[in-house]
Amino acid sequence: MFTIDWNGSFPVRNKENMVYQGDCLEIMAKIPSNTIDLTVTSCPYDQLRTYNQTATGPLFDYEETLKELYRITTDGGVVCWNVADQTTKGSMTGTSFRQALSAMDVRFKFWQTIIYAKPSTRHQHDGRYLNCFEYVYVFLKGNKPRAWHPLKKRNKHAKKFASGTVRQPDGILNNKEKFQIGDFGVERNIWELSNVNDRSLDHPAIMPEVLALGLIYSWTNEGDVVFDPFVGSGTSCVAAKKLNRQYIGCDVSGKYIENARERLKQTYILHDWEPPEEPVGLIHLSKISGKHPQDRNNNARAFKTDNTLKQSHINRGIENLILNEKAKVIQCNKPGDIPPEGGLKCK
Ligand SMILES: C[S@@+](CC[C@H](N)C(=O)[O-])C[C@H]1O[C@@H](n2cnc3c(N)ncnc32)[C@H](O)[C@@H]1O
Repeated sequence: MFTIDWNGSFPVRNKENMVYQGDCLEIMAKIPSNTIDLTVTSCPYDQLRTYNQTATGPLFDYEETLKELYRITTDGGVVCWNVADQTTKGSMTGTSFRQALSAMDVRFKFWQTIIYAKPSTRHQHDGRYLNCFEYVYVFLKGNKPRAWHPLKKRNKHAKKFASGTVRQPDGILNNKEKFQIGDFGVERNIWELSNVNDRSLDHPAIMPEVLALGLIYSWTNEGDVVFDPFVGSGTSCVAAKKLNRQYIGCDVSGKYIENARERLKQTYILHDWEPPEEPVGLIHLSKISGKHPQDRNNNARAFKTDNTLKQSHINRGIENLILNEKAKVIQCNKPGDIPPEGGLKCK
């Protein structure tokens, strides 16, 4: 099963982009300490899926895995750990919470939790509400992330004046000074993303590519090393490659590794994908994720279309184009108006 055919450590900082078949503990043992800038992974959720094996016991040792992850992570490096609980014998297992505590036991800081909110979900008939989210625990080694590029989104009430209140420790509410709301604000920690139902990837539990893109964009710089110990169909490495980061992944299943290699072969580094004059947000990342990551032109077109439209509408005296899923065009009433959604003044 363990197929690495050379001795010694990975040449991690040598642009060795590869996914390997093998147990993650065996693979990590070959990775030198303090070399991985970011881990983005979705571990097996209890025994919810059998993957390519028969699940008869725990598929992996999370305590050992987290200990090894701490060792190989750089100072200021981050681990993004996507997980959810299975419900067995009427109770949620709570494994995800145990894993978070275990990460703290090996000295990671529990930096934050991102909720990956899913639109569709399985119905539960047994006195529970629909379960429509998973956790992404963000663990930090050291005191401060070495890279931080927050995703932003357009503020609904941009340019309006707002005032708020601050509650004092004794409970009294004090008024804050009025301030003008900026055009963009930092993204919240609840990310609403679509499920992945791509049968061609032939994997039962695929992470949304936008999730991987968002995490990698946020906590790495170009050229940094991204690792995934449970790489499955290769999503995290595909996202890393698109964003021009180095990557290493592994999975016990030879079949998944073969598929991931094929997927990676057809994935290209995307240059110049960032939108002009706007901070990057989930909406922009959704434009470079997708079923055909191999289609370099498709990806480039996503933004070119927006710009082309923008220019052609400006030429026709109709502006402004707000970058959203449907590339909405707003008609101006009179020159000087700012469209209600914000953006360029009408000419
Ligand atoms: C939730 S899936 C990961 C899916 C992946 N994020 C994707 O987008 O396709 C978990 C993966 O862990 C693999 N796995 C289970 N135990 C493992 C171990 N001990 N070492 C390495 N991989 C393991 C499974 O084969 C499975 O592909």
